[in-house]
This record gives sequence, C-alpha cells and structure tokens, in this order.
Amino acid sequence: MNSMGKIVAISCSPNPEGSSAKITDAFLDGAMGLSTNIVTLHRPTKFKSVQDCNRCMECKKTGRCKIDDDVTVVLDDIVDADCVVFSTPLYFNGPTATYKVIEDRMYSFLDKDRKSTLKPGKKAVLVISSCYPDSELQAASDRLKKNLELIGFEILGVITYCDQKRKAPAAKNPEVLREAKELGSKMRNTPTV
Ligand SMILES: Cc1cc2nc3c(=O)[nH]c(=O)nc-3n(C[C@H](O)[C@H](O)[C@H](O)COP(=O)(O)O)c2cc1C
Repeated sequence: MNSMGKIVAISCSPNPEGSSAKITDAFLDGAMGLSTNIVTLHRPTKFKSVQDCNRCMECKKTGRCKIDDDVTVVLDDIVDADCVVFSTPLYFNGPTATYKVIEDRMYSFLDKDRKSTLKPGKKAVLVISSCYPDSELQAASDRLKKNLELIGFEILGVITYCDQKRKAPAAKNPEVLREAKELGSKMRNTPTV
C-alpha cells in the first residue's frame, strides 16, 4: 500500500524556467512531499544524440526500440515508472519536435496488433503551455492525450496553460501551480507512522 513510487518527468521545452517546466516542477513538488517516491527529471532538448523512429519494425519482434541513443534511457525509465509526466509547449499547434520524437519512439510499446505492452495502470500526466488564446491548445491536448491512452497510459490529469502572450507566465500564477501540486500529491505514498 505505502510502497515507493517511481515518477519520471519528461520536460520537452527548451526553457527550464518556462511555463510547462514550472508546472512540471510543481507536480513533482507535490508528488515528493514526505513520500518515498523516486523522481527522475529528463530534459531531452539537451540530449546530444536523438534519432527519429525509422520504422524498422524491430520493436514488433523484440518489444524494444532498436535505436541506441539518449532517448533509450527515457524509454527504459517509462517502462519502470508508475507515473510519467509529459510536458511540452505548443509549437505551431502541436508539441515540440523533441516531444514528437519521444512519442514516435513509444511506438515500441505497441505490439504488432497495436496492443500496449506497458504494465497496466501506469499513469500519465500531460502538461501543455501556449501563448496565444486563439491557438489550438485544446485540440492538441486532446490528440496527445488520446495517443498516450493508445500507448497504454491511464491519464491521471491534463493541465493546459496559456501564458497570454507571455504576460502571465505559470511561475507567477499560484492557481495553476497549486493545481499541479495537488495533482502530484495524488502520487504521494505517505509512510505510515
Ligand atoms: C517555434 C514556436 C512555435 C510556437 N507556436 C505557438 C502556437 O502555435 N500557439 C501558441 O499559442 N503559442 C506558440 N508558441 C509560443 C509557446 O507555445 C509559448 O510561449 C509557451 O508558453 C512556451 O512554453 P514554455 O514556457 O514551457 O517553453 C510558439 C513558440 C515557438 C518558439
């Protein structure tokens, strides 16, 4: 019941001080608390070696992505995790290229019948930040959420945030930070006294 949880965050913004990163940090803050959770934060925009899915289909035979690069450790961490936080800014109404590479490489978690090979009950949190109120933030979020479900995640929560043309960064918005922290606290396994 009060076992340790493994939480992995994949922050796909190039800006570690930006809105999606700050919302992710608040989630992790909530998830840690006094718990014994182990938290790993990846910032793949800093990776040196990142390769696209090349449709080799090897994963359909072996259950594992054949490419060996800096994304490999992220994929392995996802397999072990109890909860994965995916965060990205909205770039041209979609996720960043970095997010997209990781999404495509998670194709390796689907077998030849498009059934997930991830252990059941693995949770995902999706965080997306945008700048313009008239962007397709909701549509993009719905699409990414659906893909995560297809890959085999149970969605714990989705946080979409528009920074109103940078006038309202998430770092200065206590409400969204509280929302993220509260969502994170759902992953907390407080030790019994
Ligand atoms: C290449 C690029 C494309 C962008 N495209 C959009 C867009 O389509 N819609 C939008 O609302 N904001 C767009 N933005 C703005 C970012 O989504 C916005 O500033 C976001 O809050 C940044 O998140 P971050 O602070 O987590 O990096 C774009 C920014 C860049 C650099």
